[in-house]
Amino acid sequence: MFSLTDFDVLDLPSKSYDAIVVGSGAAGLFCAIVLKELGLNPCVLTKSSATESSTNLAQGGIAVALPKEDSPEIHFNDTLKAGAGLVNPKMARILTEEGVKRVIDLIRWGAEFEKTPEGLLKFTKEAAHSVPRIVYYRDKTGEEVERTLLNRYRGELLEGARVKELLIKEGRCYGVLAEFNGELTAFYAPVTVIATGGAAGLYLKNTNPPTSTGDGISAALRWGALLSDLEFVQFHPTAFCDGEECFLISEAVRGEGAVLIDRHGRRFMGDYHHLWELAPRDVVTRAIESQKELTGGEVFLDFRPIEKRGIDIYERFPTITKKLLEKGIDPKKEPVPITPVAHYYIGGVSVDTFGRSSITGLFAVGEASCTGVHGANRLASNSLLECIVFGNRAAYGVYRDFMYLSRDFAEIRVKAEAFPVRSSSTFGLSEVKKIMWGKVGIVRNAEKLTAAIEKLSEIALSNSPWEVRSAATLGLAVAVSAMRREESRGGHFRSDFPYEREEFRKHSRFSLADLERLL
Ligand code: FAD
Ligand code: SIN
Repeated sequence: MFSLTDFDVLDLPSKSYDAIVVGSGAAGLFCAIVLKELGLNPCVLTKSSATESSTNLAQGGIAVALPKEDSPEIHFNDTLKAGAGLVNPKMARILTEEGVKRVIDLIRWGAEFEKTPEGLLKFTKEAAHSVPRIVYYRDKTGEEVERTLLNRYRGELLEGARVKELLIKEGRCYGVLAEFNGELTAFYAPVTVIATGGAAGLYLKNTNPPTSTGDGISAALRWGALLSDLEFVQFHPTAFCDGEECFLISEAVRGEGAVLIDRHGRRFMGDYHHLWELAPRDVVTRAIESQKELTGGEVFLDFRPIEKRGIDIYERFPTITKKLLEKGIDPKKEPVPITPVAHYYIGGVSVDTFGRSSITGLFAVGEASCTGVHGANRLASNSLLECIVFGNRAAYGVYRDFMYLSRDFAEIRVKAEAFPVRSSSTFGLSEVKKIMWGKVGIVRNAEKLTAAIEKLSEIALSNSPWEVRSAATLGLAVAVSAMRREESRGGHFRSDFPYEREEFRKHSRFSLADLERLL
């Protein structure tokens, strides 16, 4: 184990529950709602306020095979194609088939998605979907999902409870150690669910909330759970950045007709892909980077073709247009400068079809997990779907395992000494973010990755605050995974290995043993 905290659980204040769910985004809340409905007593721990999550920021919508001309089979095939040879077909079948029922659950629980005047659901289109199949609410679908789930959940939820370590003994998880009300507290449960979201927040430029620092994934790794596919970080092609402060401009904007132009006003995406602006996300991202280099200038997103289709962009995209107007840009009048930034973690805690990790009693769901449904490149708007489908399934997995796991915590002694620091230097989170952005970013190569591995190892073993060491540990695992994959596939691009290689058509794994060899 690679603990970053000194503790002896027997000395700490404690609370116990039937299940601990860490995180109050779509995945954690969906799971907790079902757990409560199944008669268990769960507690959701969340490090900031309940609504501080990527879920709450989601714009585009949820992909689901509900349109008349669509089917789970067509959705499955689109998912497979976008994933560049690495989608786990069994998981993707579950996603696309059960997704229909789970989105209907959201509607049943009060989610308001856009409807036609006749009362039928409306669908928008995003990249690499062969039909419009995204249900949405203006450009704030995430807020609507978060509102619906928080409203439905009837159990305990503790805000300001920041999970730092897991309580693991002899290959079994007994709960978590969290900072709560200013003191370290042991939260015991026979079953623990990590739903802490992704880690795109570890990049200097990203679309995520500040809470997306991968705490749950890092803790799972440090306490022995197997991780997979860490090298696949998805960069979203269109963010607006003012310095390092960035916000997303949804792919749905391109789905409704916006186009990408270069500094000469030329629409260039046809040079790169036959689907133009709606090519897979990784293709659009690299095309933008390449066009910037070729023309020596910025790339812009032009919203005006949407207006030509008779759609009022202030009405359809209120959040995005308001933010742009605040920055002095009116997208009705002028193209908007955009840039690709880090957006989504495809990799995470390796899980089975019910969310079980490799450690007994430890589950993972949502962006913190790796189910394999996204392969090497996620199809747009498949992640909220993954959260609700696998959030639901994890609740049933928890219910089953709960029956067989001991609920007597009196004798459990988990004691840890923080992994020794090797240098007295201290670093801030911004140093980790700069390394991830500069060296483990959109275009990678062995030279950059070697430098990243060296520096991140130093930070992981430095006298820096807990969150910095935790971030550096996960960053190190991502950099090493990226170094080992000597090819380019989906979201992972190596300038020194710019092609797919058949021998790498497999999922990668990263374990505590790998970490121990490095540190
Ligand atoms: P999150 O929603 O990120 O929730 C994680 C939770 O864990 C938070 O409550 C957080 O505070 C908590 N947490 C983190 N660390 C700790 C800790 N140490 N202790 C306690 N709690 C902790 N996907 C789509 O499908 N469609 C979209 O339109 C879409 N748009 C997006 C737009 C933006 C700007 C972003 C950032 C993402 C978007 N995504 C979209 C991706 C999608 O929103 C996320 O993948 C998904 O919401 C993740 O949900 P989650 O429940 O796994 O994690
Ligand atoms: C977006 O609205 O472009 C984000 C969709 C996603 O990340 O799935």
